[in-house]
Amino acid sequence: MNAGPVIGPRLGWLALATALALPVQAQDLAGHGGPVGALDARDGLLVSGGFDTRAILWDLDTAAARNVTRFHDGNVTAVRLLPAGGFVTAGQDGRLALWQAQGRAPEFATMPGQSPIASLDVAPDGSAVAAGFWDGQVVLLDLATRTTTEMQAHTDRVVGLGFLPGGDLVTVGGDLRLARWTGGLDLQFRRDLPDLPNGLAVSGDRIAVIFAEGALRLYAQNGDLLPERFLTDRPLVAVAATSADIATAAIDGTVWLLAAGDLAQRHMFTAASGPVWGLTLTPTQVFTAGADGLIRRWSLEDATPLGDHAGVVTADYDDGSRGAEIWQSCAVCHALTPDDDSRAGPSLHGVLGRPIAAQPGYDYSAALRDMDIIWDEQSVADLFKYGPEAYTPGSRMPEQRISAEADRAALVAFLARATAAID
Ligand code: HEC
Repeated sequence: MNAGPVIGPRLGWLALATALALPVQAQDLAGHGGPVGALDARDGLLVSGGFDTRAILWDLDTAAARNVTRFHDGNVTAVRLLPAGGFVTAGQDGRLALWQAQGRAPEFATMPGQSPIASLDVAPDGSAVAAGFWDGQVVLLDLATRTTTEMQAHTDRVVGLGFLPGGDLVTVGGDLRLARWTGGLDLQFRRDLPDLPNGLAVSGDRIAVIFAEGALRLYAQNGDLLPERFLTDRPLVAVAATSADIATAAIDGTVWLLAAGDLAQRHMFTAASGPVWGLTLTPTQVFTAGADGLIRRWSLEDATPLGDHAGVVTADYDDGSRGAEIWQSCAVCHALTPDDDSRAGPSLHGVLGRPIAAQPGYDYSAALRDMDIIWDEQSVADLFKYGPEAYTPGSRMPEQRISAEADRAALVAFLARATAAID
């Protein structure tokens, strides 16, 4: 962990606010309580979906979590930012949910589906969302009318889908086929694929498909095969693209950055020791995520890591103690000043001695509002001894535990000191 600069307690949080303006730009995003399987970034925002059933909206400039949502029953399997603001999530529960940037509950959700959703995309004009299901169905959700259209697109899992610039939809399935559909879901054509596809991303007017045999193939809008590259003998499991760049990742954590035109390799690097399931690109950065739940940032230009892989430093106050060091992982979601309501969790200013769910102005989950706990040094320590799932079931705070008793004691002592110093 990066404990940040050591500053005297009373001056601490004022001085730090200035000191932090620079490094934060390059921080990794730490906040999920388990593996992260889905990412999408654009225009300074990133949305992530985790096995912890949460989706988190992040501010990329400050690396702070803006909104932690908890709605799906099971993994959040796919996420997309919406061009008009807000985002859409899809889950193992087969549901699609539409969110405002700040909402605690979805503004709209479909009923539970027959099977999990594996893939998701938003039409270029922002008018519709398409979801691909494990049972081969595709559901189109019209964002203006909130009505859905369904069709059986494949006889096996829809492993990838994407909208072409003109609004047509392309899908690839476990039935080893690529298909193109009109915006009204009329079939244009089907093509057989040479191997099992694992995902799809649209790059400009071309279609990048990744395969279990380790190949990446580009297809034209008419289904013709363009360049192909055999990158590895391991399965490729994630793909993301802009019109200039394509990124793909293998099950062993290797990531390739390729020129979209001819698939020339620009860079290859190891992002993780296990699979990279979440992958997304902005014009300058690459984001990866997998089993350890940390969302890592890399430079698109030279593939160097931009974060320190040690969590986010956005603390309002730092006295250089062990407790302050542990607090760094909380600061991504909790402020210590009373008036900061820009983070995903409530300010913890003065939390010791306060009943649960009592910070004025914060919109708590119904689960927390119904509980009867007074936060003191013992109960805050217990919250992280047993974890929020067990101690406060239904909480939107992601699962996390602090295993060493001395660390829990250091954290609560720090909370008491920080509140006294910031008063
Ligand atoms: C990824 C975001 C996130 C992280 C990281 C996080 N929390 Fe939370 N926390 C939340 C959210 C969201 C809530 C409100 C939950 C709800 O309303 O269901 C919350 C609630 C709480 C509460 C109850 C507050 C109240 O007013 O009743 C405490 C105490 C707390 N968190 C402490 C911590 C500590 C200490 C850490 C670090 C060890 C931490 N949290 C890390 C998101 C987070």
